[in-house]
Amino acid sequence: MRPFAGARICLGVTGGIASYKTVFLARLLTQAGAQVDVVLSRSAREFVGAITFEAVTGRPAHTELIAEGRALDHLKLAREANVVVVAPATADFLARSATGQADDLITAILLATRSPVLLVPAMNDKMWGHAQVQANAEHLRGLGYDVLDPDTGPLASPTEGAGAGRMPEPEAIMAEIGRLLEAPGPLAGRHVVVTAGPTREPVDPVRFLSNRSSGRMGASIASAAHRRGARVTLIHGPLEVSLPHGARPVAVETTEEMAREVRAALADADVLIMAAAPADFTAAQPAAQKLKKEQAPESLALARTPDILRTTRDARRPGTIVVGFALETEKVIEHARGKLEAKGLDLVVANDATEPGAGFGTTTNRVTLIGRDGAVEAHPLASKDTVADVILDRVEALLHGR
Ligand code: CTP
Repeated sequence: MRPFAGARICLGVTGGIASYKTVFLARLLTQAGAQVDVVLSRSAREFVGAITFEAVTGRPAHTELIAEGRALDHLKLAREANVVVVAPATADFLARSATGQADDLITAILLATRSPVLLVPAMNDKMWGHAQVQANAEHLRGLGYDVLDPDTGPLASPTEGAGAGRMPEPEAIMAEIGRLLEAPGPLAGRHVVVTAGPTREPVDPVRFLSNRSSGRMGASIASAAHRRGARVTLIHGPLEVSLPHGARPVAVETTEEMAREVRAALADADVLIMAAAPADFTAAQPAAQKLKKEQAPESLALARTPDILRTTRDARRPGTIVVGFALETEKVIEHARGKLEAKGLDLVVANDATEPGAGFGTTTNRVTLIGRDGAVEAHPLASKDTVADVILDRVEALLHGR
């Protein structure tokens, strides 16, 4: 999987409980085609053994700075790595690396490498909040390292509060590694606005009209755009998938709200990708109180919601690339072309809702891209992550053509 295939990742592990999650990270990276060289600190080995990492990566794990016949390991690992990652990075490791110490293999690699470095702190929330730890993290950022902020949420000790300290999930770390592998990234300096998921239209205070969109396609696009260096705004309805790492999320409920946020974001957007499935209908007169069973109305009067792409057209800056989707059940190409014209799109991504593995609620999609010049480009069934890359490749070409 791009950009991991063939990449060399040096993955340092220091002694924190979160190191069990690093095993998953090593597995994800390996499955994506990367060669992962794991380096364990002495205290990390108290938590997870080298053999676990060796089994997952299919490569030897490294532990010693000074060992017979391996005196130059730190230089070799430092040179060969496309990215050096330390996850989890403990408070002790942050302190030692912030002062330039090189008394074990991973700190020596950090000094010897000239590749991008990603540090993923994870510790108790009070420790992370301590002024000394914060100062160390700031200093490391100043040295040019990418230091991820820990997540909030349950920590190892059940008696402790849920402040920031938790290691981000392996998928989020992976996304950040992907971004560093592509740095500075073809979309660096661009603002990409993506919409995702369904919207909900109230019928009464507890009921709504919506659709089966999961938000997966939009989340994949937002994630890929971040990886390519863009500043990403993700305007989303209720999602079934977790929010992608790196995008600024803007949560909305109704189509009207989504239209308002899209209009605001267009003020400085270079690209708008409307992957959302906004509800097309709303209750003509939503009830202020819950509708009681006994007084069930025989029918529900509907009204149209605004078409976001059409009604925000005047807010686009000249040269903004606009991509729409067309979810069809018949005459796919013909209807998609119609939407390209009517909504003023540069590119329309058409898919057939009746086809297995395509459209709503699936992890895959089979899309056909249609550009302004009318050219039709059919793609095979692929994961939504792959489809996201296909779409962004076209967006980049369109940006270059402007
Ligand atoms: N879209 C929009 N505003 C809406 C509905 C849809 O901007 N109220 C966008 C979608 O995000 C998508 C494109 O328009 O990028 C086409 O959406 P689709 O559901 O395929 O078509 P509709 O315009 O809703 O038309 P129809 O339902 O009649 O096919």
